[in-house]
Amino acid sequence: MAMLITGGAGFIGSNFVHYMLQHHPEHPIVNFDALTYAGNLESLRDIEDHPSYRFVKGDITNPDDVERAMQLGVDIILNFAAESHVDRSIMDPGVFAKTNVLGTQVLLDAARRHGVKKYLQVSTDEVYGTLSPSDPAFTEQTPLAPNSPYSASKAGADLMVRAYHETFGLPVNITRCSNNYGPYHFPEKLFPLMILNALEDKPLPVYGDGLQVRDWLHVSDHCRGIYLVAEKGVPGEVYNIGGNNERANIDVVKTILQILGKPESLIQHVKDRPGHDRRYAIDATKIRRELGWEPKYTFDTGILETVTWYLANEKWWSAVRSGSYMEYYEAQYKDRVKA
Ligand code: NAD
Ligand code: TYD
Repeated sequence: MAMLITGGAGFIGSNFVHYMLQHHPEHPIVNFDALTYAGNLESLRDIEDHPSYRFVKGDITNPDDVERAMQLGVDIILNFAAESHVDRSIMDPGVFAKTNVLGTQVLLDAARRHGVKKYLQVSTDEVYGTLSPSDPAFTEQTPLAPNSPYSASKAGADLMVRAYHETFGLPVNITRCSNNYGPYHFPEKLFPLMILNALEDKPLPVYGDGLQVRDWLHVSDHCRGIYLVAEKGVPGEVYNIGGNNERANIDVVKTILQILGKPESLIQHVKDRPGHDRRYAIDATKIRRELGWEPKYTFDTGILETVTWYLANEKWWSAVRSGSYMEYYEAQYKDRVKA
């Protein structure tokens, strides 16, 4: 089964490429990525010469680029490519609509044209909106109610995927996973940002009261779930993925400080994110029961391994932070006065 992995130079995509080459090297992989600020071929340096791996630079919103990649022979498309950061979607929503909605539609057209065996859309629990503390976790039946430009664009893409199944009979799946953490995570996101700031004794900017809850899953458990769905998922079905690891942001930050032996006085409560979703929680009963998926990491083993990875991979993260990232950091955090 030849696979087109879009966004394979990003956080989850690069972990998925590693996962595939380690566990299923029989499948040839084409990694198709535009190399935006979030795409980084350094995350794939160790496997770039693997005989089952090939990189093609291209943009999912450009039908010619996509067609060029499809000509290599593709049985399955897995779409990881996206603009993925909520804070950036508040600063500039347009590119989210373009990449996430239009890009998905361009890929769906290519999937139809080439009669692929499966199109898998990597989506997010954020399309379901927000929960109050007493609400049950999101199931696949929870209505879509996105609150940020990011999650709205992901929901738009999901609806397009659904429509191509209903209208054209395209064999699709959608996976909706909770927040991931692990190696190769771009430092704009909570986990790496807090680890790296703590290492350098910089303030740790916690939005609002820090009591927002996310349901954390180690990226390798997510990758295994995606592969299972690609292989065995029933066409047309949505599968939630999550490991029952709800944590308040402030507790995640305190755990990171504890592991690194740094003081809690580094925590700085700053202005909250507009439209900030209060709680996410995933009910993953369906993928567990129907496909036999189980997470391997607990939150404790995963967070320890992740902090250790950042300690051991300074070369990777210092290169990432040397470019335009610091300009983004300055723009994002300079006006967040103390809450
Ligand atoms: P990321 O931002 O780290 O990586 C995105 C990748 O897509 C980058 O390599 C980038 O270069 C590429 N890309 C962006 N625009 C492109 C375009 N027009 N054409 C081709 N490539 C393009 O994102 P991530 O965290 O790895 O997320 C991957 C997917 O998983 C996204 O669809 C995201 O919505 C979804 N997801 C993420 C999480 C999470 O916690 N990070 C959780 C659930 C779902
Ligand atoms: P993030 O990693 O951006 O993922 P998402 O918004 O997609 O869930 O943020 C995770 C949580 O951490 C979210 O509630 C926002 C919060 N957060 C902070 O408190 N401070 C920060 O500097 C960042 C980046 C996030």
